[in-house]
Amino acid sequence: MEAKELLKGRRSIRKYKADSVSEDVLKSVVELASFAPSWKNTQISRYIAVTGELKDKVSATLAEHNQSIVNSAPMLIIQTDIEKRSGFERDGSFSTKKEDRWQNYDAGIAAAQFCLAAYEAGLGTVIMGIFDEDEVANVVGIPEGQKIMALIALGYPDEEPQAPKRKTVDDLLTIK
Ligand SMILES: Cc1cc2nc3c(=O)[nH]c(=O)nc-3n(C[C@H](O)[C@H](O)[C@H](O)COP(=O)(O)O)c2cc1C
Repeated sequence: MEAKELLKGRRSIRKYKADSVSEDVLKSVVELASFAPSWKNTQISRYIAVTGELKDKVSATLAEHNQSIVNSAPMLIIQTDIEKRSGFERDGSFSTKKEDRWQNYDAGIAAAQFCLAAYEAGLGTVIMGIFDEDEVANVVGIPEGQKIMALIALGYPDEEPQAPKRKTVDDLLTIK
């Protein structure tokens, strides 16, 4: 797949086929996501893959819109990040005025790369930010020193949504 098609063709998918995602395919997606840039190559993003009953338990904590997505997807990725790395000095102080916000920045880049790698493998994804972090953590169990960043539904698409309208380059770009 050409990069242009990859970047333009990926869509958020909210309806999935029942086919499961194999461990090999999942691992190849995570491997490609690991090539995302990160603060001093800290690579803080982690992925917990849940299916079956555990996925159902996570789904039960969600509001209706995201619940129906997670019910439809055969796999749910809980994206976590290792705390206090990105944007931090070795002594634990902040490196810049953005303080710990580079953590979120790095996780976002990793998630984007994860979704693009999944798309190239024929999979659909949607990043979900609307969920109760504490409730999901209680259900799944998150390793010490990590925090949940986002949920990502994963599976083979059962819809071909149109791209939501994009802003024009003139809206986005200022050349001085
Ligand atoms: C940080 C973030 C949070 C999002 N949260 C949700 C969500 O909770 N539920 C949902 O259906 N879509 C969610 N989305 C998907 C966006 O709605 C979607 O990316 C956007 O409409 C553009 O569509 P596209 O991904 O098909 O290009 C989220 C996307 C991002 C990046």
